[in-house]
Amino acid sequence: MAASALHSTGTAAMSLSLFLFATIAASSFSPADAQASSSCASHTFSSNQLYASCAALPRLGTTLHYNYTAAANTVAVAFRAPQPSKAGGWVAWGLNPNGTGMVGTQAVVAFRHSNGSLVAYPTLLGSYAPSMAPAAAAELAFPVSDVAAEYARNGKEMVVYATVALPGKGSKYTHVWQQGGSVVDDVPAAHPTTGDNVLSTGTIDFSK
Ligand SMILES: *[C@@H]1O[C@H](CO)[C@@H](O)[C@H](O)[C@H]1NC(C)=O
Ligand SMILES: *[C@@H]1O[C@H](CO)[C@@H](O)[C@H](O)[C@H]1NC(C)=O
Ligand SMILES: *[C@@H]1O[C@H](CO)[C@@H](O)[C@H](O)[C@H]1NC(C)=O
Repeated sequence: MAASALHSTGTAAMSLSLFLFATIAASSFSPADAQASSSCASHTFSSNQLYASCAALPRLGTTLHYNYTAAANTVAVAFRAPQPSKAGGWVAWGLNPNGTGMVGTQAVVAFRHSNGSLVAYPTLLGSYAPSMAPAAAAELAFPVSDVAAEYARNGKEMVVYATVALPGKGSKYTHVWQQGGSVVDDVPAAHPTTGDNVLSTGTIDFSK
């Protein structure tokens, strides 16, 4: 009886150490290592689009999937975000080539139009109260093509696709992403200005 008690204690100690090891191994992945993590790599897209890399972004439960072509200085992206609200709302992702936050970002935004279509287009965030209007090609600071959007995971997510001709040299950029719960008169309305909604920016190296 003493022997069997000892034995079970030993087994418990062993599974505890295995548990600790697994926990330490899992937590040793830093946000940078989240690129190509299984949390985003396992996602499949509606038309089986394949992306060489993906990153689980640290705010708003979003992921960015991307294909970087260094020779052409372009990146094809798919930005996935949870549906912001039952009513719909909007999601957006963009690059800020000249700064670190929202202002100066050129984004792609997607939302459900009152006519029932999911619409997506490039827009310029020139101030903290941008118009959110579609930017004409001539207004863009850098070209964006193949802009499209769709629902995913039975309407639980929205996905925005775009191909960006990268401004400047190198593969490292400041990116900004966002979501808001309401669209008024077919214009995305202001997002919350606290918490994750003001922390959803970072740097990304498209070559990784
Ligand atoms: C990404 O690049 C791979 C390899 O070149 C290609 O097969 C795939 O179609 C590209 N995906 C997109 C969405 O452009
Ligand atoms: C809804 O409006 C958008 C924006 O004007 C347009 O691109 C889209 O084709 C419209 N969809 C329908 C079903 O009319
Ligand atoms: C960034 O700065 C460059 C050089 O001043 C300018 O040409 C470009 O339009 C700016 N980009 C944006 C998105 O404001």
